[in-house]
Formats: sequence, C-alpha cells, structure tokens
Amino acid sequence: MEHTNYVHGYSNREAMRLLDQAETLDEIIHHDTVFSKGSLVLEAGCGVGAQTKIIAPKNPESNFLSIDLSETSLREARELIQSLHITNVEFRQADIYHLPFTDETFDSVLICFVLEHLQNPKAALRELKRVVKQGGTMMAIEGDHGSTFFFPDSTSAHSAIDCQIQLQKQNGGNSNIGRELYPLFKSIDLASVSVSPRMVYVDASKPRLVEGFIKKTFTAMIEGVGEKAIQQGIIDGATFEQGINDLYRTAEPDGVFSYTFFKAFGIKENATSPGGKE
Ligand SMILES: C[S@@+](CC[C@H](N)C(=O)[O-])C[C@H]1O[C@@H](n2cnc3c(N)ncnc32)[C@H](O)[C@@H]1O
Repeated sequence: MEHTNYVHGYSNREAMRLLDQAETLDEIIHHDTVFSKGSLVLEAGCGVGAQTKIIAPKNPESNFLSIDLSETSLREARELIQSLHITNVEFRQADIYHLPFTDETFDSVLICFVLEHLQNPKAALRELKRVVKQGGTMMAIEGDHGSTFFFPDSTSAHSAIDCQIQLQKQNGGNSNIGRELYPLFKSIDLASVSVSPRMVYVDASKPRLVEGFIKKTFTAMIEGVGEKAIQQGIIDGATFEQGINDLYRTAEPDGVFSYTFFKAFGIKENATSPGGKE
C-alpha cells in the first residue's frame, strides 16, 4: 500500500535526499537519541531507513521495530540495514493511525519528519502513546519552514519555499509543525514535555553543511515540488527558477542559511503517579 498524498513522493531522488539529510543532521538531531539498555523502540514512519541507520547502531543494546505505510520504502530500508550489517532492527508495514500492536508494547516511540505530512497528527500521537508502556518515552522531530532565513535575502526564494508550504497544506499536512510539537505533546497528556530547537546555521566556514544541508537537503526538497507548483499555478516557472537559483546562491562563500528543527520529548506517566492524567 502506498501513501499517495505524500508531498515529497517516493522517487529515488527523494530517497537519496532523505539519506543525505539524515547523515548531515546526525549530530544536531540525534546526539541525544539514546534509549535505555534493553529497550524495545518503535520507529514510526521509517521511510527508506535514513534515521534507522543512525539510531540503531547508536543504541546497540536496544531493539527497533521500524514501520511505514510504503512497502517500497520498507524494501529499500531493509536492504540498507542489511547491507550495513545492522542486526537490531525489524521492519513491518503498518499504519500509524491503526497500529497492529497491543497496548503498552514498546518502551519508546520515535517519529521523525512524519507528523508534518499527516492530516491528524494528534490522532497519530494518541495512537503511538497507546502502544507505549507506562513510564515509557515519546520523541518527535520535525522542521518548521517558518524558521528559514538566509543571506542574500530573496523574495523569489521565499515564494519557492511557500510552494512547498501550500502543497503540503493541500495534502492536509503542515510544513510549520515544529512550533506545534509542544502543544501537541501536551494535548495528549504526556508528562515532562520538553522541546529543544535544533538550529542548523550554515555559512562557508561549514562546507559539509553547505553541501549537505543548503544544497542536498533544503534546496533539493524545494526543487522537488517545482513541477507540481507550476502545474497548479501556485507560482510561475521563471519566479520558481529564480527562487531556486537564489537558494543555491546562499551556498556561495558570502552566503548564510539558517533553518530550525524541533525535537520533542515526553513521558507516558503512570496512571497512579501524581499529576498523571490517564
Ligand atoms: C519524510 S518521510 C520520513 C522518513 C524517515 N523518518 C526519515 O526521516 O527519513 C515520511 C514517511 O512517513 C510515512 N508515512 C506517512 N503516513 C504514514 C502512516 N499513516 N503510517 C505509516 N507511515 C506513514 C511515509 O510513507 C514516508 O515514508
């Protein structure tokens, strides 16, 4: 079963982009993706395994069950993880909204770059919480396109970024969901909720991020929606092309680019503990 409304699509190019993105952001996003020894972790919406290949070796004494709607992505993820000889991951096709697991199966849940695509992120989080044990943890990582700024500034580049925001909205998603992680986690009554912004600030003194983030992650993502946005008349071809050129321009020696991801953490509190709202 494929998820047809997924704005980025399931092309090889998008798979490469997700892998580049995860590798580039490894330290910034995952330095604290640490689970206690012996944990069973549900990775929800694993895609082609771009995060799996980072978090599983980082937690060799935990076991991961990584799920996704897309059989195609799961096949790629399986191949990737096998090729890297990572042995603490199993994959399964499943829908986050209707998880085929009994209550309180997992010690932790991780969801990364998925909520932005969902029409009802709160329902998804509620379902994920159902399968977490009392005292278990939930982690979510999302971007927020409203956090983007760059030098030289460019109206065309902002318009091109806005195409992605509009198309995501049409699919019922939200490209600015990073700022909503705190209210979302609170709304499902998680305890000890904390959100930390992970700013990716890039200038020429960080050549790895210039290449890996400005070009291969962010601009590649915006470029990917061009055809559809032009077809739908959200933008004209010339403005979109100018916008993409201007985004690449920020990767020049005097350019600057900044984007902020948000990482949320919460605990499913014991029903009987003080403050527990189960
Ligand atoms: C942007 S990709 C992120 C993949 C991976 N977490 C990463 O960071 O590279 C979003 C993934 O969520 C999956 N997805 C979307 N809706 C889903 C649902 N209802 N249940 C399971 N997976 C879903 C898509 O198939 C896609 O693989």
